[in-house]
Amino acid sequence: MTLNCLKNRFLVLFFSIFSLSVIAQDQAAIESGKTLFKNNCASCHNKDMKSKLTGPALGGVEERWADYPQEDLYTWIRNSQSMISQGHPRATELWNEWKPTVMNSFPTLSDEDVANILAYINCTYEGNCPGQVQVAADQGVPGQSKGEQESNSLVYVFLLAILALLAIILARIISNLNYMAVMREKGEAPERKTLVEILTSKGVISFAIFAAVVIGGFITVNNAINLGRQQGYEPDQPIKFSHVTHAGVHKIDCNYCHDGARRSKHSVIPAANTCMNCHKAIKVGSQYGTGELTKIYASVGYDPNTDKYIEDYESMSEEDIKRIYTKWIADTYITDKGSLDSEGEELIENQWNGIVSSLTNEEAGDTKIQGPIEWVRIHNMPDHVYFNHAQHVSVGKVECQTCHGKVEEMEVVKQYSPLSMGWCINCHRQTEVKFADNKYYDNYYEMYHEQIKNNKRDKVTVEDIGGTECQKCHY
Ligand code: HEC
Ligand code: HEC
Ligand code: HEC
Ligand code: HEC
Ligand code: HEC
Ligand code: HEC
Repeated sequence: MTLNCLKNRFLVLFFSIFSLSVIAQDQAAIESGKTLFKNNCASCHNKDMKSKLTGPALGGVEERWADYPQEDLYTWIRNSQSMISQGHPRATELWNEWKPTVMNSFPTLSDEDVANILAYINCTYEGNCPGQVQVAADQGVPGQSKGEQESNSLVYVFLLAILALLAIILARIISNLNYMAVMREKGEAPERKTLVEILTSKGVISFAIFAAVVIGGFITVNNAINLGRQQGYEPDQPIKFSHVTHAGVHKIDCNYCHDGARRSKHSVIPAANTCMNCHKAIKVGSQYGTGELTKIYASVGYDPNTDKYIEDYESMSEEDIKRIYTKWIADTYITDKGSLDSEGEELIENQWNGIVSSLTNEEAGDTKIQGPIEWVRIHNMPDHVYFNHAQHVSVGKVECQTCHGKVEEMEVVKQYSPLSMGWCINCHRQTEVKFADNKYYDNYYEMYHEQIKNNKRDKVTVEDIGGTECQKCHY
């Protein structure tokens, strides 16, 4: 036994740790690929990697480029137009199929970036991405794939197995060391415990129970937290609504749509009627054409062919609805391209399928196209917390961006702040109350005014007026 044997065990240990870190690295690469894909490619390439959107499905793309050196695919992604003009065979083939749609250039992507994007494309296509950060396990979140959750629990099981292995190895090492110590001391071999005896010993069993409780607790708490909210949470929405387009480029005031923020506890998501104020006139978008805007019409029952709301829309069958909106998509296509070809037929079918999948939710039992757009909620506070928008926006004069980040620069809104108790309280400790011209504060003002005048205090924070008292925030 002895050194050699110990060395072997340490090797096993070393490799377990090594393989863990390899997995972690892969996961980081794929996470980064996912983010790059979302930010740069997802507007044109379907993120299921299997169906077409504005551009082709990307699943299996490396095989289609296998006849050429690897740099060719990388160059294509950075600057596809240059390859088309050089007459590269695959580039020409793609162009003939997809022209006149041009893919953007991405000259700033590094080799590593491209490799990460391709890794993400591959594993998504094959459905074997390593565990990803789990997002809300809310019912009926569109785009939430079961696969993500399953691979997540696989990782847990795998980690558990490795931990168990480590525990056994360590136990053996300790027992061997004891054995050797006794040997040396007494000069004779003591009775050795068998593996089974060790595994069923009190110490090991209580450790196992302890570990199960800790891990079980961790997973439960983790899932419970994820259920409600998560910083950076950025779900797919039924319509590709862009705050960049609306609040950024066209400078529409946040309050135009989120009118509640100034006046009430909730800020509310605008109803489709608010969208219709503008989209009665803007019927074909520059980015998705009829692809996204038609979803608004199908939800409220507006017929863009005739510019009228449809009577008895509520009771209309899916067939009739389909006829109205596919006619609109077809007519727009013909106006644009001159005639309806097979490409157009396919586009109509794709856009119609998009409308159905965005406005219905089979899992939640909603099979009707009619009815409100089901936006996925991003911010979600537990029921026991009281938060009031008007209090912060109108009385406290806090900018939306302080809590939500630069929403006008977000193509897809994400949760910017942690929304934790510490976050609320920190701000209340640091932020000074704005007394000037504020009726709400008249009572406090009298009291503090004296103190400030007498130099007893130089500022009044939200904490001073009771902003860290439990019952202010908790029901
Ligand atoms: C503006 C829309 C658009 C964006 C954004 C876009 N693509 Fe494309 N992509 C296309 C179109 C369209 C084609 C088909 C060829 C053409 O018409 O240029 C294409 C083709 C491709 C192909 C070739 C597929 C094949 O089967 O050989 C790859 C690879 C690709 N894109 C990767 C990417 C990556 C990676 C990104 C993000 C970094 C990206 N694309 C962003 C529109 C886009
Ligand atoms: C043209 C209407 C419109 C304007 C203008 C607009 N929003 Fe929105 N906002 C929406 C819609 C629709 C959603 C739901 C879809 C989504 O999350 O993108 C939303 C979602 C949000 C959310 C996430 C809500 C959740 O689910 O928790 C925040 C935060 C938000 N908006 C903040 C802002 C801020 C800040 C501004 C101004 C800079 C702004 N919005 C301007 C329409 C608008
Ligand atoms: C105050 C006017 C206004 C309101 C209200 C408004 N939009 Fe828009 N929307 C615009 C403008 C302007 C554009 C840019 C059109 C373009 O680029 O072709 C646009 C573009 C869009 C696009 C992209 C279309 C494309 O294919 O490029 C979508 C999707 C969209 N809006 C959805 C909505 C939704 C959903 C609502 C309601 C929550 C809404 N809009 C409310 C003015 C508005
Ligand atoms: C002091 C921080 C803070 C400020 C300022 C703030 N919000 Fe919020 N916002 C939150 C929190 C916290 C939530 C989650 C509330 C919940 O889940 O009940 C939220 C939720 C939302 C939602 C989701 C719907 C809802 O009401 O729950 C929208 C939309 C939104 N905010 C828009 C805005 C807009 C627009 C402004 C500016 C006019 C703004 N917020 C200012 C903290 C803030
Ligand atoms: C960006 C800073 C900021 C953040 C973050 C913030 N608040 Fe506030 N809060 C304020 C300001 C400023 C006031 C003062 C307005 C007032 O007195 O009503 C205030 C007041 C309040 C009040 C009323 C206090 C009183 O004594 O009347 C409550 C309740 C409250 N906040 C709850 C919350 C909760 C819950 C959160 C976290 C989800 C939160 N706030 C996060 C800045 C913040
Ligand atoms: C400024 C607002 C605010 C004040 C004041 C406040 N809380 Fe909270 N508290 C919150 C928010 C927000 C959460 C939800 C945090 C989350 O979901 O992670 C929370 C969560 C909790 C929870 C549940 C644990 C958890 O993480 O979900 C307990 C218990 C709690 N608070 C106790 C207290 C006690 C006791 C006080 C008084 C000393 C207090 N809170 C004061 C905002 C506040």
